[in-house]
Amino acid sequence: MLSLDYQNKLLRPAWVEVDLDAVAHNVRAIKRHIGDVKLLAVVKANGYGLGAVMMAREVVANGADYLGVVMLDEAYELRRAGLAAPMINTGAILADQADAVIDLDIEQMIDQYDVAVALSQAAQKAGATARVHFKVDTGMSRFGVHYSRAVPEMQRLLTLPNIKVVGLFSHFPMSDGVDKSFALLQIERMKMIKRDLAAQGIRIPLWHMANSGGALDLPAAHFDMVRVGLLNYGYWPSFDVQQPFELAPAMSVRAKIVAIRDIERGDTVGYGRKFMATQKERIAVLPIGYADGYDRLLSKIGVILWHGQRAPIIGGLCMDAAFVKTTDLDAKIGDVVTLMGTDGEQNISPHDIAALIGSVSYEVMAQFGRRLPRVYLRDDAVIRIDNSLTAQSSS
Ligand SMILES: Cc1ncc(COP(=O)(O)O)c(C=O)c1O
Repeated sequence: MLSLDYQNKLLRPAWVEVDLDAVAHNVRAIKRHIGDVKLLAVVKANGYGLGAVMMAREVVANGADYLGVVMLDEAYELRRAGLAAPMINTGAILADQADAVIDLDIEQMIDQYDVAVALSQAAQKAGATARVHFKVDTGMSRFGVHYSRAVPEMQRLLTLPNIKVVGLFSHFPMSDGVDKSFALLQIERMKMIKRDLAAQGIRIPLWHMANSGGALDLPAAHFDMVRVGLLNYGYWPSFDVQQPFELAPAMSVRAKIVAIRDIERGDTVGYGRKFMATQKERIAVLPIGYADGYDRLLSKIGVILWHGQRAPIIGGLCMDAAFVKTTDLDAKIGDVVTLMGTDGEQNISPHDIAALIGSVSYEVMAQFGRRLPRVYLRDDAVIRIDNSLTAQSSS
């Protein structure tokens, strides 16, 4: 019999901290930058690691017109949490999932005729209209009808009953690099489709193409709406984009030291005995590991912040623990360390971690997993803790 209240409590001394004021600031800055164009805020992948429900609420409260997800389960999580905002699933579904699109009252990416037929049937059965966004592949080769076949495919789609094509969109594989020539070619392909459809008397209300890089660097790709993810959370997609406004980084990862060990020359640390002391050393143990998304590649090259000072990760990173060399620091059990974010004058950004492990900031952020509670701050005070392990299960 459990007698304590475990709901949304911070039990484990390791967590993701999210500054809601930063997200609010970023969304408002993006909106000012794009002007009259609509904003779809991408909250997929658990809101890039910051928590999908809270990110969805914050972006909507600050003026996002649409929420973007990539699977029905993500849409379900948001709808169940009471988010009624317009939502697009930009990910692919299979024909047998069409009923859920209607049930969840979301708009769906379409690039396959059989799925469109299934959606049309599901909508007829429910006495509803399926709202779809026709995706055109202008160069990503992921989803979308190839741009050369876009017009006839669109005509076929328009013959289906109970389907309303509310949008046409495409995606950039590289909008944040120095060389924009391919992105500009993709924009030309979009414009050509727009002209050809107009010539057939076909008007689609919402054209969208730009992600964060496009929103910053490619005004010609703004069309009627931009789909922005990373910028909302306070990070530039690359170091090559224009930075026309200030961004406030919203995500930190912190843990408390749970053990301190004094080791002697010849002692080894962690699995694989990767670190062998050549002198007396002091090691702090952190209760966070690669199963939390703190990448195992950081074993020998990671850095953390303690009281505004840098200290190296050593030894082999464990599933649930990491080792820090604190020989020259006065670190104690219970001290907070920062694995990502700011401490004093020092900062470790997702870009810094990505550079160490040969990844991208997107992966670094999205990797931080569900075992880490999300602690939400407003005005520097904790206003909410989401702990998905202790949250009330629906069954
Ligand atoms: C279809 C689509 N649109 C927009 C975005 C947002 O990208 P970014 O986070 O670079 O703004 C993504 C994310 O990868 C996406 O898959």
